Amino acid sequence: MQIITTKSDLQKVVEKCKSEGLSIGLVPTMGALHAGHASLVQRSVKENDKTFVSVFVNPTQFNNKEDLAKYPRNIERDAELLQSIGADFVFAPTPEEMYSQDEMDTTFQFDFGGLDKVMEGKMRPGHFNGVVQVVSRLFYLVQPNKGYFGEKDFQQLAIIHFMVERSELAGTFGDLQIIDCPIVREESGLALSSRNERLSASEKQIALGISKTLFASLKWAKNENSTVAEVQQKVIDTINAIDGLEVEYYEIVDQSTLLPTNTFKHAIGCVTVYCGPVRLIDNIKYN
Ligand code: PAF
Repeated sequence: MQIITTKSDLQKVVEKCKSEGLSIGLVPTMGALHAGHASLVQRSVKENDKTFVSVFVNPTQFNNKEDLAKYPRNIERDAELLQSIGADFVFAPTPEEMYSQDEMDTTFQFDFGGLDKVMEGKMRPGHFNGVVQVVSRLFYLVQPNKGYFGEKDFQQLAIIHFMVERSELAGTFGDLQIIDCPIVREESGLALSSRNERLSASEKQIALGISKTLFASLKWAKNENSTVAEVQQKVIDTINAIDGLEVEYYEIVDQSTLLPTNTFKHAIGCVTVYCGPVRLIDNIKYN
């Protein structure tokens, strides 16, 4: 496995792969890798000749400086894990290598077709602009055949699909296919997240209330008399009743439009919860 830190070295390696007719899988990450990331990488290794993994804590997608500063970083451990599961190239640039000062200081403009007006987009203004900025740059640099993303960040995934299929950038990345990968959970149900590293042992116990409630809501939704609004409210009330958890939002929306829905058909519930100072997200599909 080769670790690359500059765009020019990356492009040389990509050109070589392309000239040899090799297929490329790309797994964009911000490091602090866990079994969820590993599942994406393993899938890419299986489906492509070469797998590139980017490890880059992208400053332009953080609207909270403290969150950026506290984001866990451990490139040595990440590299060890990636080597052990068969990644071929790791791209780990510095922010200065990735962006000019101007790009760092100016919000990247992109028409999200309304997908950024809800949930994470509403709570974290500018967040998805930064995500699209870095992901589109990685697609240009690596020219992957397939890009792998986790469903835990469901709204991010919807926006990346939109970017590739329907926005002004559609068609710019060749025949790139976006591969949705399911959430990986601990046996306890807790969705894996790099942010879990910031939870104390007792907070981790408390955080289990999030997935437990989401799974319980599948049963509540099956009760023919319950409406979407009722189930939504019950999830919020149940999580808020757990000492140490505070819901920021829980919205049951259509899986394609991300707009509120009044039917459980094709619906997904997306939640953001503060567990102490740590902001956790999770989601559940109703069918
Ligand atoms: O999901 C993430 O870790 C990040 O948002 C991504 C896609 C790597 C872009 O920085």
